[in-house]
Amino acid sequence: MHFFQYRGRELYAEDVPVRQLAEKYGTPLYVYSHETLVRHFKAYDDAYATFPHIICYALKANTNGAILNLLAREGAGADIVSGGELFRALKAGIPPEKIVYAGVGKTEDEIRYALRSGVLMFNVESSDELREIDRVAHTMKVKAPIALRINPDIDPRTHPYISTGMREHKFGIAISDALEHYRLAARLRNIEIVGVQKHIGSQITRTAPFVDAVKRILVLVDALKRHRILIRYLDIGGGLGITYQSETPPLPSDIAKRLLPLLRNRDITLVMEPGRSIVGNAGILVTRTLYLKQGEGKTFVIVDAGMNDLMRPSLYDAFHQITPVVKKNRTKIRADVVGPICETGDFLAKGRIIDRVNRGEYLAVMSAGGYGMSMSSTYNSRPKAAEVLVKGKTHALISKRGSYADLVQNEVMPRYVR
Ligand code: LLP
Repeated sequence: MHFFQYRGRELYAEDVPVRQLAEKYGTPLYVYSHETLVRHFKAYDDAYATFPHIICYALKANTNGAILNLLAREGAGADIVSGGELFRALKAGIPPEKIVYAGVGKTEDEIRYALRSGVLMFNVESSDELREIDRVAHTMKVKAPIALRINPDIDPRTHPYISTGMREHKFGIAISDALEHYRLAARLRNIEIVGVQKHIGSQITRTAPFVDAVKRILVLVDALKRHRILIRYLDIGGGLGITYQSETPPLPSDIAKRLLPLLRNRDITLVMEPGRSIVGNAGILVTRTLYLKQGEGKTFVIVDAGMNDLMRPSLYDAFHQITPVVKKNRTKIRADVVGPICETGDFLAKGRIIDRVNRGEYLAVMSAGGYGMSMSSTYNSRPKAAEVLVKGKTHALISKRGSYADLVQNEVMPRYVR
């Protein structure tokens, strides 16, 4: 459920016509809905209200500071994968004791930074990493709280690029090797075992893979207990899908109904790491039609947003609905909606039946709040899009449009090229 709806012919973001926003702030423009973000966060918080839990929002989905501030105020923790994300999470006021740190390639500097900050736990992905965290913690004379990321070998039945929990993936530790790794962790003097984590993939639209994965992890938790290794935090990762086209993913409450009975009488805090399901449908990308071009048996709608602004269609062949910001009675055409980037792979939609739009009209690319802006780049020297947050009738810029000066701000000119 989101708050981008048509009122008559006009698409609104909450109580503001999207056209007005595009005219005021220019395009390409990311527009987010405050109410939708809060609602999505609460859907998780309410679903698990009866059980100790921490909702660690996965920053990678969208790192805008205003969105992080808003979620922090709702009580969110953070799932981070880099020092940069830790910096952003702390800056937004997310308490370190609600921050979990994942990723297969944590550097020494990043480990130090996280230890200094006092994060809840490192989600560790290999024995090498475990030893490195132990070594760094030793030099700092602290104990590092860790969970092992366990790969339950469950097929989440999602796109291969965003599926992570199977044996052949680089992520996590095979469940068959889990006990041995926990024993190693227990031997390391500067490591404190606090949890277990799993994450099997993203854009998952069924309940069963989630529940099956948790069941497998609980078998492991019980086995660990027999070895006197106690798990305080059960981190079930993120991955709940959203509706891009016609998917009907379960709600957080549907998953909770299946998981909570499995957790009764366990002295454990549940941690989860949702990203897309919080921000995905809370944001749209607004773009302007520059030209219509009739190709060989094909129409191209050329717009001012490209793969640098929203990479998902090019990278994953992902589907995003595209709809005119102001509806009119029009004929439909089949078209490729493409950006200005000099790449054949620069498209937002392919062979799509859409309303025949005219030059200068605005289009909304829906469900672009997650992995949209956070994966954007300045490829082709295109400054970054602006971002706006709408709350009821009010709206404000939450990230300025990039400038040409921004494009070169980090460049340094050695004397021998001057
Ligand atoms: N936790 C871990 C350990 C993860 O790797 C991820 C996402 C999440 C949580 C959050 O997953 P979510 O709830 O957002 O599904 N760029 C891709 C998605 C990559 C997901 C990477 N990991 C896309 O645009 O579809």
